[in-house]
Amino acid sequence: MLNIDLSGKRALVAGVADDGGFGFAIAKSLAEAGASICVGTWPPALNIFTNLIERGKMDESRRLSGGSLLQFEKVYPLDAAFDTLADAPEDIRTNKRYRDTGDFSIDGLVKRIESDFGAQSLDIVIHSLANGPEVKKPLLETSRAGYLTAVSVSAYSLVSMVSRLAPLMRPGGSFLSLTYMASERVIPGYGGGMSSAKSALESDTRTLAYEAGRKYGLRLNTISAGPWASRAASAIGIIDRMVDYCAANAPLAEPLRPEEVGNTAAFLSSPLAAGITGTIIYVDKGYHSMGMSVTALESQG
Ligand SMILES: NC(=O)c1ccc[n+]([C@@H]2O[C@H](COP(=O)([O-])OP(=O)(O)OC[C@H]3O[C@@H](n4cnc5c(N)ncnc54)[C@H](O)[C@@H]3O)[C@@H](O)[C@H]2O)c1
Repeated sequence: MLNIDLSGKRALVAGVADDGGFGFAIAKSLAEAGASICVGTWPPALNIFTNLIERGKMDESRRLSGGSLLQFEKVYPLDAAFDTLADAPEDIRTNKRYRDTGDFSIDGLVKRIESDFGAQSLDIVIHSLANGPEVKKPLLETSRAGYLTAVSVSAYSLVSMVSRLAPLMRPGGSFLSLTYMASERVIPGYGGGMSSAKSALESDTRTLAYEAGRKYGLRLNTISAGPWASRAASAIGIIDRMVDYCAANAPLAEPLRPEEVGNTAAFLSSPLAAGITGTIIYVDKGYHSMGMSVTALESQG
């Protein structure tokens, strides 16, 4: 039987701080396929996340099909806005939610992985993080600082992670990020430069796939996911309406489930996808292929 076998492989999923987002669903699918899982967690959310795990509050969602619980080999602090600790401003480094975490930069993450597991110790890297402080503002009202933060955290972080983590990857390794179709079509309400950040992420997926392919033999893809009411998406303010709209108008008229994204991620990270790189894979119940609203058509009789 053809199956997704990730046994003996180690994955890093950057952007997991609860059990409600795509990162968690991807971690679970990768673990179902046999991979060991490390996560990178934003320092302000780190304590809450580890407490939830320790107090057993996530046991139900961590349950794998075989009955065991999803284990995290390591939970690393990660603020993907910073390439090195020296890049973080003083007020962040001394902030009570950061100061005891050690080096929370991308460089710090690389050093910790290397010291915990050795020089060639990673097979799969998932970039499942984004942040746009002005996401609720239309682009016309977005400040330069808000726009640049959205692009820095949500897009440049992938460039930095690929350039710094690629040397740690074993042959056959793969990177995967998460994007959204606001990069290519207008989604009113998805503001603050987040649409620009996703466009950059998709363009960089192609360029980085070429560069990392030639330099390291690694693959790199992005999943364009349909809307899902994660913690990050809830910050947009209209996520429930986005979910309902897509379910009503997509070829598959039902809401997207995060495990559908997780399972696609497991496939794309596996040797079965050895020929796929530089690509956007839509996991959105087919919504991206529509050119007219079904609900509008139905309301006209
Ligand atoms: N939920 C959706 O509707 C949707 C649709 C398409 C794409 N996506 C993308 O999926 C990815 C995961 O988001 P999600 O919706 O599952 O929400 P989520 O809240 O589960 O994940 C976002 C994560 O990013 C982390 N984060 C924020 N700023 C960070 C920083 N500076 N450094 C490190 N981590 C940081 C947050 O702590 C959180 O864990 C994002 O790239 C998002 O844009 C989401």
